[in-house]
Amino acid sequence: MAAMRRLNLPGDAASREDVTAKAERHLIQPWPLAGSIGAEARTLIGEADGIYITDGSGMRLIDGPAGMWCTNVGHRNKAIAEVMHDQALQLSYNTPWYTMNEPSAVLAERIAAHAPGDLDHVFFTTGGSSAVESALRFMQFYNNVRGRKDKKLILSRGGAYHGSTYLSASLNGRPRDLDWMDGADALVVKLSTPDPFRRPAGMSIEAFEDFLLAEFDETVARIGADRIGAFVGEPVQASGGVIIPPKSYLRRVREICRQNDILYVSDEVVTAFGRLGHIFASQDEFGIDPDIITFAKGVTSGYFPLGGMVVSARLMEDLRRSNHPEAMFGHGLTYSSHPIGCAVALKNLDLLEGGILDHARKIVPYFQAQLKTLEDLPLVGEVRGVGLMACVECVADRESRNALQLDKAVGARIDAHCHELGLLVRPLINMCVMSPPLIITREQIDDMVAILREGISRTMDDLRKEGVWQG
Ligand SMILES: Cc1ncc(COP(=O)(O)O)c(C=O)c1O
Repeated sequence: MAAMRRLNLPGDAASREDVTAKAERHLIQPWPLAGSIGAEARTLIGEADGIYITDGSGMRLIDGPAGMWCTNVGHRNKAIAEVMHDQALQLSYNTPWYTMNEPSAVLAERIAAHAPGDLDHVFFTTGGSSAVESALRFMQFYNNVRGRKDKKLILSRGGAYHGSTYLSASLNGRPRDLDWMDGADALVVKLSTPDPFRRPAGMSIEAFEDFLLAEFDETVARIGADRIGAFVGEPVQASGGVIIPPKSYLRRVREICRQNDILYVSDEVVTAFGRLGHIFASQDEFGIDPDIITFAKGVTSGYFPLGGMVVSARLMEDLRRSNHPEAMFGHGLTYSSHPIGCAVALKNLDLLEGGILDHARKIVPYFQAQLKTLEDLPLVGEVRGVGLMACVECVADRESRNALQLDKAVGARIDAHCHELGLLVRPLINMCVMSPPLIITREQIDDMVAILREGISRTMDDLRKEGVWQG
């Protein structure tokens, strides 16, 4: 414990090196490369407060991506820390196999009250992957019980990220995610990325939307609705680069799903709990009422690993009325409905509803407008965003919008410069994703954008010097 505290002191090189050495010898980092697996140290974070994190050298950085889109109410929130402490002393764990706890039932009711349409039943998981996995296994169970054993295929899209468990990962559609991985390919059908920025040259956004919908329709017709169980989609593809689909695309997809009895699973692991200024964005931002919504991340603002799915009352009713009351949904987790996670989520909801959501809604236009000013930099092809999520996409030139001719590590280069200047960026190949804690102020947005501008400018200088780019 004493050693941990010393780490937080700026310039404590000895303990920093010690931790680094331990990580290099024993820690497997997530998403590692074969060439450095099990032998890699990453930026050490010693402590955090509000929108700031402090690295192992004592450097204070704006948490640009809010951890991984999750530290919504900000770091070091005392009210949440106290709830965790109190709940741990009252009931730290109970088996969900044949007992239950109060926080999970109260939280389920509160989440149901925020969910659109008739979505009013909640199953709690340990995070986003297990939430998506649960939704998919539920769809399989639902169709098995209803005697539709062939109706199991899942529609997903390019640019998607839905998790790292086998089935959820099989839906992923970002470049390189699956290059070296196996997936449940026979169960998944991939559709085009709904990315207006990368639509075919000369095509209007309206025509692009029609193209996407025609592809959806044709796919359903070709495969047969009796073989397709679910469509899974993020309302805004987050890790794909904050891809915001054309205006009425989601509503039209929802309609096709309804007509063909395909369950619409809205993956709101990123977009829920305030990121777009609402508890859930499906209805409030995009006008759709899915059959299932998956959530995680912001539900506890990252203080505890928790996720879940909210399911339509109609689906519950269909199962209860089926001819198979003996059929078991053979799915559950040791940490389903975890009392500490659910207690944290309840306090997190109090904080969101007690002013943070209002603040987020008010600050969004300023956040988007300030980031948009970066479009005057020649390396920047587009700045796009919605709510408190945005992406700065760099391109070799605006004519071709070609990212591939650029050094692929351009996002990482910008991140490295920004780190020196006091900002953590989330680099994604040629893109930088920004999604700070929702409590960010106007002044802090000014700092963030000024650093980002300088980081991109320095990257442009580097690329010019290296002869990689001449913008
Ligand atoms: C939209 C979406 N779904 C699912 C996941 C997986 O969540 P987790 O990493 O908590 O398992 C993520 C993670 O980034 C995500 O962005």
